[in-house]
Amino acid sequence: MAYLLALDQGTTSSRAIIFDEQGGIVNVAQKEFTQIYPQAGWVEHDPGEIWSSQLSVTVEALASARIAPDAVAAIGITNQRETTLVWDRKTGEPVYNAIVWQDRRTAGFCDQLRRDGVEPEVQARSGLLLDPYFSGTKLRWILDNVPGARQRAEAGELAFGTVDTWLIWNLTRGAVHATDPSNASRTMLYNIRTGEWDDELLRILGVPRAVLPVVRPSSGSFGATSHENMPGHIMVAGVAGDQQAALFGQACFTPGVTKNTYGTGCFMLMQTGTTPVASTNRLLTTVAWNTGGATEYALEGSVFIGGAVVQWLRDGLKIIRTAPEIEELAASVPDNGGVYLVPAFAGLGAPHWDAYARGAMLGLTRGVTSAHIARAALESIAFQVADLVSAMEADSGIRLEELRVDGGASKNNLLLQFQADLLGVPVIRPQVTETTALGAAYLAGLATGVYGSRGVIASQWKEDRRFVPSMAKEQAAEMRAKWTRAVARARHWEEA
Ligand code: G3P
Repeated sequence: MAYLLALDQGTTSSRAIIFDEQGGIVNVAQKEFTQIYPQAGWVEHDPGEIWSSQLSVTVEALASARIAPDAVAAIGITNQRETTLVWDRKTGEPVYNAIVWQDRRTAGFCDQLRRDGVEPEVQARSGLLLDPYFSGTKLRWILDNVPGARQRAEAGELAFGTVDTWLIWNLTRGAVHATDPSNASRTMLYNIRTGEWDDELLRILGVPRAVLPVVRPSSGSFGATSHENMPGHIMVAGVAGDQQAALFGQACFTPGVTKNTYGTGCFMLMQTGTTPVASTNRLLTTVAWNTGGATEYALEGSVFIGGAVVQWLRDGLKIIRTAPEIEELAASVPDNGGVYLVPAFAGLGAPHWDAYARGAMLGLTRGVTSAHIARAALESIAFQVADLVSAMEADSGIRLEELRVDGGASKNNLLLQFQADLLGVPVIRPQVTETTALGAAYLAGLATGVYGSRGVIASQWKEDRRFVPSMAKEQAAEMRAKWTRAVARARHWEEA
C-alpha cells in the first residue's frame, strides 16, 4: 500500500493529510496560526510560522498514523494562493511578513494602473483584473517599502514566492526555487497563454525578473525533502493552488464541470479545457493545472468572505461558540426575518471587484434576533455563489446542470439546501470533502505512477448527498433581488 501525503497550507491553518491509494483519508493533523492585522484592510502572516506550523503537522500526521516515510509515494502541496513572500536567497530570511491575499493595501496603486488604462492589457496577458488580491502589486509594495529591497532584488539576492514556493524552498533546504502554473497564474506576472513570466507585465508592475521562481508542471518532480526535521527523502511531485487542486480533487476533468469550495472565501471554478476563455463578466481566467505536457484552464469567480463570515459570528459577534453551531441557530427561525448581510469585510471580489466596499447589514427591525443574523450570514454565502453562477453562465454560454461542492462549510446542510434553492439546480456533496488536499495528492500520485490515468481518479469520486431545489422560483428571485439591493448599499463605502 502506497500513501500520498498532502500538505494543505490554508489561510487560517496548516494541515497535513495522508491518503491511501483509493483516495481515502488515513490521518489528518491541523494547526491554526496567527493572523496579523497591522492596520485596517491589511492582513499578514509570519512566514516562519507558516513553515513551522506546516512542518509540525506533517511530522505529527506521519508519526501518529505510524507511517514510515518510505511508505509515502510522494508529497503534494496545495496552498492559499496569491499570498506574497520575499526572502534572502542566501539566508532564507524573509525581508517582510507574508502579505496575505485578503490584504487591500495596494488598492490605490491598482486605481492608478486603471487610470493609466492598462487593465485590458493586464487582463489579456494574465487573465486577471486589477485588484489588490493578486501577488504582483503586493510584491511591488515590498520592493518599494522595505529599505534596500529593490536594489537587492535587482542584484539577484532576493527570492519571491507564493506559499507553495516558500514551502518547497524550505522542504528542500533552499535547493529548489519553483512554483507551478496554477500558482503562477495568480501573480499577475505570468502570461497564461504563453506559459511564461511576461516582460510587459513585469514592466507594468515594476518587478525585476531576477526574483522569480522557475515554473514547473503541476504534476512532476519539485525535488526531494531534505530538511533535518522532516522524515526521510520524500519526493514533492504535485503542486497546485488550493482552488485548482480542489477542481482536480473533484475530478472536474471535462469542460463545463464546475465546483465551488466553501472555505475562508468561496471559489467557484469551471473547467474550460485547453482553451483559456476570456471573461466579459468580470470573472478570472486562470490556469487549472499543467499535467502531461498540456495546460488546462478554468474560469473562476472569487468571493473573499465565505466561511469567514461564520468565524466572524463566532469571534467577532460571539453569537455562536463553535462554527457548526450556526446551522442550529439559523434553523431555529423559519426565515431571515428580512435581514440581509453583505459580508464585504475585505471589499468585494467577483463579479464586483470593489476594494472599497465594506460589510453591511440591512433590514433590521425590533424583532430581529441573533438567529436571523445567523441565517442572513449563511444566506450571504449562497447569494454570493449564485452571483458567480450567473456571471459564469453568461461567460461560458454553458447552463449549469449541477454544482459540486466541498470545503469546511459544505458540511452545513441548511446552506447547501438554500444554495440549491437559489440556483434551481442540484448541489452535490462528495464523500470526501477534503478535495483540496485530495487534488494535490492526486497530482503527486499521477506523477509517481500511483495512478495510471485520470480515469482511475474519476472513478474514485463518489456522491455523499444531493440537495435538490425545493423553493418556488419566484421566491428565490425575490430574495436575490433584495440581496442585489443590499450589495449596492455596501459598495464604494471607503471610496478613495
Ligand atoms: O485565493 C485565495 C484562496 O486560495 C484561499 O483559500 O481555502 O485558504 O480560503 P482558503
